[in-house]
Amino acid sequence: METDSGRLARAYHERTKHSPASVMSDPHHLDWDNQPLPFKVYEDLAPIPLPAEPPRAEAPVLACLAAGGGGRPEGFAPRLEAIARLFFLTAGVTKKIEAGGRAHYFRAAACTGALYHVEVYLVCGAVPGAGGGLAPGVYHLGAHDYAARRLRAGDFRAALARAAGEASAPLAAFVLTSTFWRNAWKYRSRAYRHCYWDSGTMLANLHAAAAALGVPARTVMGFADAPVNDLLGVDPDQEAALCWVELGRPAEAPEEAPPVPPIAYRTTPLSKEQVDYPLIREVHAATSFADPREAVSWREGARALGDDPPPPAWGFVPGEAGGRAFPLARGEVPHGGVDQTILRRGSVRRFDRERALRFEELSAALRGAAGALPADFLPAGAPALNGMFLIVHAVEGLPPGAYALDRAGERLVQLKAGDYRSEAGGLGLGQELAAEAAVNVYFLSDLERVTAALGGRGYRAAQLEAALMGGRLYLAACGMGFGATGLTFHDDDTVSFFGPAARGREVMFLVLLGHRRKGRVFLA
Ligand SMILES: Cc1cc2nc3c(=O)[nH]c(=O)nc-3n(C[C@H](O)[C@H](O)[C@H](O)COP(=O)(O)O)c2cc1C
Repeated sequence: METDSGRLARAYHERTKHSPASVMSDPHHLDWDNQPLPFKVYEDLAPIPLPAEPPRAEAPVLACLAAGGGGRPEGFAPRLEAIARLFFLTAGVTKKIEAGGRAHYFRAAACTGALYHVEVYLVCGAVPGAGGGLAPGVYHLGAHDYAARRLRAGDFRAALARAAGEASAPLAAFVLTSTFWRNAWKYRSRAYRHCYWDSGTMLANLHAAAAALGVPARTVMGFADAPVNDLLGVDPDQEAALCWVELGRPAEAPEEAPPVPPIAYRTTPLSKEQVDYPLIREVHAATSFADPREAVSWREGARALGDDPPPPAWGFVPGEAGGRAFPLARGEVPHGGVDQTILRRGSVRRFDRERALRFEELSAALRGAAGALPADFLPAGAPALNGMFLIVHAVEGLPPGAYALDRAGERLVQLKAGDYRSEAGGLGLGQELAAEAAVNVYFLSDLERVTAALGGRGYRAAQLEAALMGGRLYLAACGMGFGATGLTFHDDDTVSFFGPAARGREVMFLVLLGHRRKGRVFLA
């Protein structure tokens, strides 16, 4: 059943598509003098330094992708040290590079244009830990100085539970927002897609790190929007809550939250002036819930989807869609721990055309991406809103060509054989990277079905799920010693390229995999 919000979300998607013609005729140029600050800085709030010696998330990265979300019993409370480490591995500054006469700060997760528009807030009760831990409150976690700043004093966890219409509250939660302008400065209206892309790569890190540290984690996307934005003190036309991740769950139902009076703290201006992109405000409003009951029925919709046998084009494509099928390879693939992988991670700026991946490596990466994902929109636990479509250039044991992963996530079905490097380069907006990489992994979603079942909020979920899986590909690739980059793409040409198996789908996300070419590092 078509809903208004679903129709509006799909109209937004349609209007922000890239095509060769739209890119060629685009007069947009970047106003470097007006580039937004990549951090949110509260000028008048005292910083509370986060623990300097947090625990390391050393468990092997592939196991943590597959495990999903930690395995402690209900009631397990993370200490401040673990919360701090999770924040650092999600959003922390991991690298500083001096170039063009200024410093560039790179973060734990990949982000379109390195613009870092996604902020992290912590809503918690009393958190035990170093330096007396943290008092109950709502905090902003600052990446620029690795410090918390208290926005509200008191235990507001029940406010999150109430907004989601849930009976029990998390022990602690990271709430992720996007400050739209910080990304729209470069990408304009398309930046709304990037809200979910860039929070998705962060959540991939967060879920992997939570699994490594044994902290139960669950992503929540269904909630009444206004109470959560009010709780954080953000104006949803400028900065809006996208999702939160529960860290642990208490066994008991929460107390009522205290009242939430307005707050407005001074923050450093982002840039000299801001340009308004109404499409962003409109699609966000159209996909917002006014009442927690909408979140409850949304989750029921997702549950009903999980109970029903999926129709043929839902989720991963069925084996019948194509020709020869190649079962994913099983074999030993050496890989590092979560901490080391995230600290070492960086998007590949040039791939080595001459170095193929092994099929075992590609298989392990795809399995990692498709692993269980604790999220309110996935009651069955497995990613369901996107399918993976591949352009394979250089994988030992897998002929070059186009493929789709079957629904069980066990076989690559060949859609067509051949060398498509040049086509892949074209689909990746003419960027050589897509031609050079060993594999292009596209995430495609049947948006008509998604929005029919989950309304416009389903659009947000489809984008986030794709990015989270894409973020897991990044981690798997870096963990195994090769590399990855996200890439933007020509929308409709990509769907046409994959032929009948992709008909009716839309492109959500693209990740390239391969070995890094040695030599100079380019900044995007
Ligand atoms: C969704 C997504 C899309 C991206 N698209 C491009 C792209 O089109 N071209 C490019 O060179 N880099 C692209 N990147 C890489 C970013 O530029 C890179 O993540 C950012 O500069 C931060 O660097 P790091 O990932 O090495 O930390 C993309 C990254 C993501 C997450």
